[in-house]
Amino acid sequence: MRISHHYLAALVMGATGFALPTNGQEDPSRDALIVETILRIEGFDLSGSTKVQGAVKRYLKDNWGGERYLDLIERFDLKEEAPGLLRLALKKSESPAGAEAATLLASLGKGALLAETLEKEDEVAAGQAAKAIAHSGDTTLMAALPKVLANPDRPLNVRSSALAALYGKDPGSQSKLLAMVKSNELAEDLRQAASEILMLSRNPEIREEAKTIFSVAGGDYPSIAELLNRKGDPSKGKELFITKTCMICHEAGGTGINFGPGLSQIGDKLDAKALYQAILQPSEKISMGFEGWEVTLKNKIKLVGIIEETEENLTLTMIGGAKQTIEKREITSRSKMKQSLMYPGLHQLMTPEELADLVSYLSSLRKGD
Ligand code: HEC
Repeated sequence: MRISHHYLAALVMGATGFALPTNGQEDPSRDALIVETILRIEGFDLSGSTKVQGAVKRYLKDNWGGERYLDLIERFDLKEEAPGLLRLALKKSESPAGAEAATLLASLGKGALLAETLEKEDEVAAGQAAKAIAHSGDTTLMAALPKVLANPDRPLNVRSSALAALYGKDPGSQSKLLAMVKSNELAEDLRQAASEILMLSRNPEIREEAKTIFSVAGGDYPSIAELLNRKGDPSKGKELFITKTCMICHEAGGTGINFGPGLSQIGDKLDAKALYQAILQPSEKISMGFEGWEVTLKNKIKLVGIIEETEENLTLTMIGGAKQTIEKREITSRSKMKQSLMYPGLHQLMTPEELADLVSYLSSLRKGD
């Protein structure tokens, strides 16, 4: 396709099309049109027109974080928008937009803003910075993390996020983390965060070894019959639901990601015994509609998740909640897994008392609460 760039340029620059209104009123839809147009003009020189610059500036202000926000900054190398990008990276640190903002900051040469935030007093922002960096996977940004990790004066949440950023994704790096745990090189208060990363590793060998290290129960775990005699504390259980990784895959009481079944009324569906079974032996009874599938694509990539399908496509929801839609003709094979997608051995992250607290919390979740 070949558009006449000269024509478009003339349109943007032209006094008629884009003359500033005389009544001083700004016109957002016209700004948006200018933005759409200049993004299409190859090699458009923004420095050539103060009017267009004004439109861009207003657009960025009115559409912070919006559809064209990142495109515009990237395309015209708008370093002056770095503070806005930083705010976006922090606010959206849990989602892809935050990662994109972080990556763009780094490519504008302003990655230091994120690295500085890691060191700031505001520990919420510092934790968000670590998460945004983690999701971006940008190597220059990641380089700021080991320093945070090594500084015991930084708040635990910031160091935990830094730890997850460095070791959360890549099973290769997780064997290093495992070695650090074994040799006691890791700060004591980071063991909990490390245990979550390692017990949820995609590498089964790392998971197995982590289980033996972090198992807090010591020796054999009590049987379900024995556990049923314990009276747990639901308010402690509510905390454990968050800290013992359940919320990565379940929603209950307004927190968590709906990857597995929602648990907000699970007390109506399962009694205490069935709840213990669901946690201790997740693969024994797999809830309908939440079976795991292994899908192999023509390019040999293997994906694991819960599937939904239409005539032409298959949508795979992966652990963490990310969805991927694939055309069926790209798939060479798919098979239903015998194992639950819920990790086995989660109870070993808890003492039997804690597990009883968790189950009493789940039992308390009923309709109308
Ligand atoms: C990696 C994801 C993941 C994690 C982490 C996880 N679960 Fe699950 N869970 C699932 C999936 C998927 C299912 C449905 C398949 C099945 O029944 O095994 C499920 C099923 C359940 C069920 C049965 C629900 C029903 O409607 O029958 C309960 C109860 C449950 N999980 C509790 C927990 C608790 C408590 C934790 C934390 C200790 C936890 N889960 C952690 C993925 C997860």
